[in-house]
Amino acid sequence: MKIRVLGSAAGGGFPQWNCNAPLSRAVREKRPGFLVRTQSSIAASANGRSWAVFNASPDIREQIAATPELQPRADGALRHTPIGAIVLTNADVDHIAGLLSLREREPFILYATARVLKTLAENSIFQVLNPDVVERRELPLEGITELEGPEGPLGLSIETFAVSGKVALFLENAADRNFGTAPGDTIGIALRPSGSQGSVPRGKTQPDGTLFYIPGCAAVDDILRKRIDGGACLLFDGTVFHDTEMADTGVGSKTGARMGHMAIDGDNGTLAALRDVNLGRRIFVHINNTNPILDPGSEAAKTVEAAGWEIGYDGMELTV
Ligand code: MLT
Ligand code: MN
Repeated sequence: MKIRVLGSAAGGGFPQWNCNAPLSRAVREKRPGFLVRTQSSIAASANGRSWAVFNASPDIREQIAATPELQPRADGALRHTPIGAIVLTNADVDHIAGLLSLREREPFILYATARVLKTLAENSIFQVLNPDVVERRELPLEGITELEGPEGPLGLSIETFAVSGKVALFLENAADRNFGTAPGDTIGIALRPSGSQGSVPRGKTQPDGTLFYIPGCAAVDDILRKRIDGGACLLFDGTVFHDTEMADTGVGSKTGARMGHMAIDGDNGTLAALRDVNLGRRIFVHINNTNPILDPGSEAAKTVEAAGWEIGYDGMELTV
């Protein structure tokens, strides 16, 4: 499988349009080592010709412009796309707003959980993707789905599972202790080439070539640790390094936990929680513009790299 990180930033991107904090200034000023990052999305392909895109970022138009594999093929029809399917992991703005850029009556299959499909159905602007043209298919909260495009199977199999998270910001119910969060608001995905299910090689815990994509996660428990153990690659929620970094930077008051994202650092942070999990590669994506790992010279960047993590970037290519 080929995987491409289309956007490695969290909501807002890097730099964020209105952010004047030191990290956003540094990338705007093109300081060495600071990379512009678009909002959260990856693409995957089994054959290099047809693709599934995971999360439709508000930046999808420029992500497609930066990725020739996702553009209409020279030998294609007058209107066509190599993108056969879009898969959503939650209903956050940074993961669904790009659907609006995919109008123009182009068929593809849109996959999401019942909770996320309900959000799309209740927001009539998404009718620009006429369901007669863009078929919406429900993903199970626990189960395997063979991804299809309008022309048939894409050769990609996904296993979906609920992870700890939070309902989208614009759907929060202030009266509810948990803001109205329910299972299905945030999922993780195991992505494998079709046909590899069930063929776990001796001595391994996963079929060869399993990539886990979990761009939003509020907590890791034993079930999740066991589930991802043995994966060839993990792309994981790298929103904040310190839980309180938004307040520490002075740009806002929300903690990572309040936003449904566990911090990288700390006793309950990602580095500690996944230290003993066996993974071929581990890469942070969905990185917020306040996260000090965006400065390659920072102590935070050195800490994650020393712990075996890579810092995802736009255009990063992986083969699993
Ligand atoms: C998040 O990941 O917490 C959301 O994308 C925040 C947002 O809606 O901007
Ligand atoms: Mn987000």
